[in-house]
Amino acid sequence: MRSNLYVLGFMSSVTIILGILLSLAATSLKEKQDLNIQLDIKKNILRSLGIPKDRSQKLSPDEVHTLFDEKIKTIRINEQGEEDPQGKLTVYVKMENGKPDGYAIPVSGKGLWSTIYGYLAIEPDGETVKGITFYKHGETPGLGGEIEKDWFTSNFVGKQIVDKNGKTVGIHIVKGKVNPNDKDAAHKVDGISGATMTGKGVTRFLEKDILMYAPFFQRIRAGVN
Ligand SMILES: Cc1cc2nc3c(=O)[nH]c(=O)nc-3n(C[C@H](O)[C@H](O)[C@H](O)COP(=O)(O)O)c2cc1C
Repeated sequence: MRSNLYVLGFMSSVTIILGILLSLAATSLKEKQDLNIQLDIKKNILRSLGIPKDRSQKLSPDEVHTLFDEKIKTIRINEQGEEDPQGKLTVYVKMENGKPDGYAIPVSGKGLWSTIYGYLAIEPDGETVKGITFYKHGETPGLGGEIEKDWFTSNFVGKQIVDKNGKTVGIHIVKGKVNPNDKDAAHKVDGISGATMTGKGVTRFLEKDILMYAPFFQRIRAGVN
C-alpha cells in the first residue's frame, strides 16, 4: 500500500505538470490566433478595396501580407477629417501608381445577436461605394450570416454616401428589394429575407460610421486632403 502522502504528492505533480503544459499550449496558440486575426483583417481591408479583382480568387497568407504592404497606406485622421498622426480615426488608403485609388474605413456595431465588424471602401471621388466586407460576427448562418456573402455585399458597389443636396447619408438596407424608381435608390440595398433585424443593425451602424468620417470625405471631394 502506498501512503496517502505519496498519492497526494503524485497527484499534485501530475496536476502541476499538466497545468504547465496547458498554459504553454494556450500561449503558443494565442500567438497563432493573433496572427490569424491580423491576416483576416488585412484580407478584408484588401477585399473591400477590390483586391483581388476576381472575387473567387483565394490569396495565400504570404500574398495577403505582400499585397497589403505594397498597396495599402494606413493614415490617421482627426475629427475635422485632416490627416493627423494623433488622430483617433484610421483610414486605409489603396495606392495605385502613387495616387489614392480608394479609402477603406472600419465599420462596426450591433446586429441581432452580436457585434458585427467590417470595412467600407469609398472611391477616390469621396462619395461612391467601392466595396464592403463583414469579417466578424455571430449572426445566424443562412439568415443574418448572409451579410458576409458576395451576393449581398456586391449590392453596395456603386451606391452613394452623398445625396443630391450634398448631404452625407448612410446606406439603408431595406426589407425586400429596392424599388428602382425610389428617388433614394442610390442610398439603398436589397435586404436579406428572414434577417430584417440584422439589416436594421447594419443600417444603423453604417450611418453612424459614415457620418463620423464625413469631414474626411468632404475634404477628399473638395480636393484638400
Ligand atoms: C434560430 C433563429 C435565428 C435567427 N437569426 C436571425 C438573424 O441572424 N438575423 C435576423 O435578422 N433574424 C434572425 N432570426 C429571425 C428574427 O427573429 C426575425 O424573425 C427576423 O429578423 C424577421 O425578418 P423578416 O421580416 O425578413 O422575416 C432568427 C430566428 C430564429 C428562430
